[in-house]
Amino acid sequence: MQLRLEGSVLELVQGDITLQQVDAIVNAANRWLAGGGGVDGAIHRRGGPAIMKETRRRYPEGCPTGRAVITGAGDLPSRFVIHAVGPVWKGGSKGEAALLASAYRCSLEAAVTHECRGIAFPSLSTGAYRYPVIKAARTAVSAVIEFLEERRAPELVRFVLFDEATWRAYAAALTSVTGSGKNRDPYPSG
Ligand code: APR
Repeated sequence: MQLRLEGSVLELVQGDITLQQVDAIVNAANRWLAGGGGVDGAIHRRGGPAIMKETRRRYPEGCPTGRAVITGAGDLPSRFVIHAVGPVWKGGSKGEAALLASAYRCSLEAAVTHECRGIAFPSLSTGAYRYPVIKAARTAVSAVIEFLEERRAPELVRFVLFDEATWRAYAAALTSVTGSGKNRDPYPSG
């Protein structure tokens, strides 16, 4: 599924983030940048030890929740890994939505700064961090569209959703956000 905006494309695919051939892939990291399971485990496994070596050297204090830092991508097919720290879900009244949107925005900002034409995101916070996927999908899709409408870059933003239920949640979010009557193509294709 795809949404064309002025100068950019937003797309949703089902798949594995570590296999994406785009300039930057986003890691669902923790604030210590200590590695973990899920996306984080898969990225460090496939990317090799160079990524952790670089995060330890450049970001010894980690990365605050809602922010992102960038490293090389080791053995992965991308050029960069952007380590984004989404919030742990605590019921929704602890600023989770703002922190999640900020993690997406900071990642996009890092991609633009490093002249990335394409960036691939997993569904931040909806695994180990237990953010309800329907809510997370709406926040994620809205944050990305707002950024793209304002900055008209990067050229490609791809959400890589691991399972069908997650893909469906993002597809529903995209449909509902684009149906809200703002100035964009209301007919996502694909
Ligand atoms: N490609 C794409 N998506 C994946 C992959 C993969 N290879 N592996 C898992 N996912 C999906 C999960 O199914 C979930 O939908 O990514 C989503 C995010 O799950 P997590 O990786 O658990 O990320 P998050 O909820 O943000 O939790 C972050 O988990 O691994 C630790 O160190 C990490 O402490 C941090 C926490």
